[in-house]
Amino acid sequence: MSVLFEQIQINTMVLRNRFVRSATVDNGAKSGYVSGKQIRSFVELSDGGIALIVTGMTAVHPSDYIKPSQNQLSGDDYIPAYKRLTRAVHNGGAKIAIQLAHMGRERGKFLNDAADEAIGPSFIENDPYCEAKKYRAMTTDEIREIIEAFGSAAKRAREAGFDAVQIHGAHAFLLAQFLSPYTNRRDDEWGGSLENRLRIHTEIYRAIRRNVGEDYPVLIKLGVEDGFSGGLEFSEGKKAAQMLAQIGFDALEISQGLRGEVFEGTEFRTRIDGPDREAYFRAWGREVKQNVNVPVMMVGGLRTPALMTEIIEKGEADFISLCRPLIREPGIVNEWQKGDLRRSRCISCNKCIEALKNGEFLHCPQNKIRATMQEEGL
Ligand SMILES: Cc1cc2nc3c(=O)[nH]c(=O)nc-3n(C[C@H](O)[C@H](O)[C@H](O)COP(=O)(O)O)c2cc1C
Repeated sequence: MSVLFEQIQINTMVLRNRFVRSATVDNGAKSGYVSGKQIRSFVELSDGGIALIVTGMTAVHPSDYIKPSQNQLSGDDYIPAYKRLTRAVHNGGAKIAIQLAHMGRERGKFLNDAADEAIGPSFIENDPYCEAKKYRAMTTDEIREIIEAFGSAAKRAREAGFDAVQIHGAHAFLLAQFLSPYTNRRDDEWGGSLENRLRIHTEIYRAIRRNVGEDYPVLIKLGVEDGFSGGLEFSEGKKAAQMLAQIGFDALEISQGLRGEVFEGTEFRTRIDGPDREAYFRAWGREVKQNVNVPVMMVGGLRTPALMTEIIEKGEADFISLCRPLIREPGIVNEWQKGDLRRSRCISCNKCIEALKNGEFLHCPQNKIRATMQEEGL
């Protein structure tokens, strides 16, 4: 049997193989609640063979609200609909984690109301790496409130039947902003040294652990390097990963920190058209894996089973995490398991991201193009 299909465990969670659906926001919530169409798309993934599905980023606090199609877990009202989701996913054999997030200053680019203000670790004037023009530095009380909100959301997640939570610590969002010396210019206990810049992560971990107990898997997606020079460097990102593993996070997914040049300095790179462009965060994942004692998920441009097998066999990661290939083909893991080891059909064009920006529900526009061509006999 291929190493990719070995059963593997994170804390008490037993997974049927090594494939993770990396968190993917889908614009599908209804007034913040998980919707029927979202549940159907998660069932398709579970039936498609993936072992662990991570939901899209989900807001833990009202200060992170942007629109009704954004998922929320900022109150108990959201629990019943999520119970339906987790039951439906479990019927297909997959496990499901919810990604808990706060956008921080990034929220500012979605705001139309002049009275509304996004928040982040520090305010930076004329910042070329931030589209948001209106945001302000958080007070200590606000930081404490957000930490408690992550803890309460994790408690709700467990009650709703999620098998794990994943904290979003990557991709330019709040925790990446705290970790990066570029966006975190604070001179209090939340800024300065690496330990201080990582304090919000560790406090969130403790707040969650207090609420969910020792046996519940608590994961983090961590940005270990920023996409431009002058930001977080990998030497520090690696230390951060080690520190988070040491305090008790049960698994680390290794990705981009703040975003640089579009799309080359981001988590979703394009032109993954050959083996040298695949697995573009491989070096980071491999090095983190060598330095921690918890499972590591590799994400970013993984497209061919042969390369995935090599990564696992060489001990460079424990899990293969996929996003765009599963938007194109939600059932591809089953096909690989049956022995059809072809490359994913995803061409990494990022039209799925454009569709989200246009307010559409997540889909692969290439599938529509293909269907139309087939209909026309082209
Ligand atoms: C449409 C879309 C939505 C995404 N949403 C999230 C998200 O909610 N949280 C997150 O951590 N990453 C998100 N990502 C990043 C992916 O999880 C993944 O890290 C990245 O796309 C690289 O993996 P891939 O090459 O397999 O697509 C998203 C990516 C895409 C394309």
